[in-house]
Order: sequence, then C-alpha cells, then structure tokens
Amino acid sequence: MKRIAYEVSNLQDVVVKIAQSEQEKQDAFFVRKEVFVKEQGLPLPLEVDDLDKIATHIVAYYKQQPIAASRIIVNDKSDSVKVERLSVLPKFRRKQIGIQMMQTIEAFIRKNFPNVSVIKIHAQIHAIPFYEKQGFSVTSPEFMDNYIPHRAIEKHI
Ligand SMILES: CC(C)(COP(=O)(O)OP(=O)(O)OC[C@H]1O[C@@H](n2cnc3c(N)ncnc32)[C@H](O)[C@@H]1OP(=O)(O)O)[C@@H](O)C(=O)NCCC(=O)NCCS
Repeated sequence: MKRIAYEVSNLQDVVVKIAQSEQEKQDAFFVRKEVFVKEQGLPLPLEVDDLDKIATHIVAYYKQQPIAASRIIVNDKSDSVKVERLSVLPKFRRKQIGIQMMQTIEAFIRKNFPNVSVIKIHAQIHAIPFYEKQGFSVTSPEFMDNYIPHRAIEKHI
C-alpha cells in the first residue's frame, strides 16, 4: 500500500492539516456547510456527496477551531487531480489562509503523487483572481454549476 506523507504547515496560530481522524473530517464538513450551505445557499445533499468517501480532506484550525477546508480527488489513471470545496469562514478571509491552504495542498500532491502534473479546479468566478495569483490559468468559458457561475482553471506543477 502506498505510504502517504501528511503535510502540516504553520502560520502564526493557524495550522493546516490533512485530515486523518473522523473528527478532522467532520471539522472540514463543518466549514464547508457554513460556507457553501449557509452562506451560499447550496442544498446540503449537493455539498456533501459520494466523492467525500474517497477524497483527501484538508482542514485548517485557528486555536483548535476549524476555519477552512478543502478536498482533493485523485484519479489513479490520470495525470491530474481535482481540488474542490476550498472554503474559509467569512471572518478569517483576506488573511492569507486560502493561500496557506493551497500551498499545503500543492505540497501534499507533489510529495504523494509524483506522476501528477496538473491541478484542476472548477472555480467560482469571484475567486479567479485568488487562484491566478497562485499560478492558475483559466481554461474554459463561464458555465453554471449549481446556479453559480464557474470557469475551469488549472495549474501545471
Ligand atoms: C476564495 C477564498 C477561499 C479565498 O480565501 P482567503 O483566505 O480569503 O484568501 P487569501 O487571504 O489567502 O487571499 C490571497 C490573495 O488572493 C486574492 N483574493 C482573495 N480573495 C479575493 C477576492 N474575493 N477577490 C479578489 N482577489 C482575492 C488577493 O490578492 C489576496 O491577497 P490580499 O488579501 O493581500 O489582497 C475565500 O474567499 C472563500 O472561502 N470564499 C467563499 C467560498 C468560495 O467561493 N470558494 C471558492 C470555491 S472555487
């Protein structure tokens, strides 16, 4: 079985972790529900789906409280991975936590999946400047996903 190295990064009192325990996964779901269900109005059955069973979950804590989340979907037959559900609680935004999340995710992918050369994301339009700042490029026209405008973006690593 493939050994997985778990990355942890620190910035002041923020700790970003690859979720390993059931509690850490539940903490990631808590953040996603706060952001995508309560704030953006996505129905819960669309937010939490079957891919959560196979995904790698990422969760950030500030003083032991979950404040940010995301998930990585790896396809063994592909040279790309998908990063989804990146979310930071509203009061923690614009504090570089999203960037810290993406840096941890990219380091995790590089270390554990050396054959992967592309990270793909379906990005909400408003978040595209955030991703472009980290080297992502837009690869599709605008499309609707769950009533929210998105564009495909990707980064070669
Ligand atoms: C998108 C999101 C994850 C960004 O997280 P964040 O922690 O606020 O981002 P950071 O503080 O790390 O941002 C780093 C840089 O990205 C850019 N940026 C971040 N959010 C931005 C926005 N809404 N509009 C334009 N640029 C933005 C800025 O240049 C920022 O640096 P600055 O604050 O020094 O100007 C967060 O806004 C969020 O959770 N939004 C709601 C959920 C969502 O839409 N997720 C995206 C799904 S594709």
